[in-house]
Amino acid sequence: MTNNLTRRQWITGTTSAAATGLLLSGAKASAQTFMEPNVNPTADNPIRAHLNENVYGQSLKARKAIADAADDSHKYAFQDFFRMMQLMADLEGVEREYVGVGAGSTEFLEKAAVFNFVDGGDILLPTPTYGDIARFGRTLGSKLIEVPVGDDMHINLDAMRAAMTDNTKLIYLCNPNNPIPSIIEKNALKEFINEMSDRATILIDEAYYEYVDNPNYESMISMVKENKNVIVTRTASKIHAFAGMRFGVCYAHPDFIRRSFGLFGNTLNLPAIRGAMASYQDKEYQAFLQQKNKECRQIIYAMLDELGLEYVESNANFIFFNAGRPSTEVAEAMRKYHILTGRPFEPYTNWVRLSLTKPEEMQYFTEKYKAEFG
Ligand SMILES: Cc1ncc(COP(=O)(O)O)c(C=O)c1O
Repeated sequence: MTNNLTRRQWITGTTSAAATGLLLSGAKASAQTFMEPNVNPTADNPIRAHLNENVYGQSLKARKAIADAADDSHKYAFQDFFRMMQLMADLEGVEREYVGVGAGSTEFLEKAAVFNFVDGGDILLPTPTYGDIARFGRTLGSKLIEVPVGDDMHINLDAMRAAMTDNTKLIYLCNPNNPIPSIIEKNALKEFINEMSDRATILIDEAYYEYVDNPNYESMISMVKENKNVIVTRTASKIHAFAGMRFGVCYAHPDFIRRSFGLFGNTLNLPAIRGAMASYQDKEYQAFLQQKNKECRQIIYAMLDELGLEYVESNANFIFFNAGRPSTEVAEAMRKYHILTGRPFEPYTNWVRLSLTKPEEMQYFTEKYKAEFG
């Protein structure tokens, strides 16, 4: 059925309503997937600008692979599991022994926190940042050393150096960071890793890697290749739209990979593996999403500039801006229009994290925001 639609029609959004309808029903997509922007949101079908998802949904190739996988899913997925690790290794030019795949990148954050606890280490991390490592550390009873971001709202590596203790065995750096979509400058980060990785494991969470188009940014997989004590995690939950399907990858020294699988084994299901395999090779779809994300950024920047509101340049699929009033007030006002925005992030409780969904939806957001607060 989807063969009736050319890839170009789909990518450019020039499908007829009938063709799009067929596509949606055939793929059993929710009303928020594919080309149709949600410009008539309802309570049951809101604009989801609160969880940094990809609301376009998975690529057609991934959807087909997921559906077809049902036929084989009575079998254990060992072969596909190893094939998937090989693909992820090839995409980054590393040996397969340096790659682990699992049900989301959270799995590897969790493993790193568990091993750190077993080894009796403290965890050093910036604040605010993505919360899972701190949550895992707290649950396990590890000591957390939290270092506030600098006045420029970037992760402050010098302050982190100063906060390091002899017992720090895990350093978490989310790059780009979340909820503040800033990056760590690539040379400064390499210098930090070179200096610190003899003393602690450095986990670089690159969940938003695919959205970065900043010349000062670089993935730290190069440091894994150099056998530094570095773990890089990536997720399919963002640009690949696998948040509910679950797929994540980690690049690390084979000692960490072996230790990981020694403890947890294969947590992946076959549809997720086959779907991710198709998605990671669908470069055209990723390029389309990167382009749409840039359009969304421009729409929101234009509104913020017009209203004179402060923001951090985005290196991800979300924007963080200072509303000059509690973000809860903004969330409540936007909920009236069935737009969901991010939760408050201490201590930046006047700042709103807005996920970039689709340009038309962002346009709708700006109209409603200006009507309320303009
Ligand atoms: C920085 C960061 N890391 C990890 C995750 C979770 O990823 P996954 O869905 O792969 O477990 C998120 C989700 O929002 C995130 O923002």
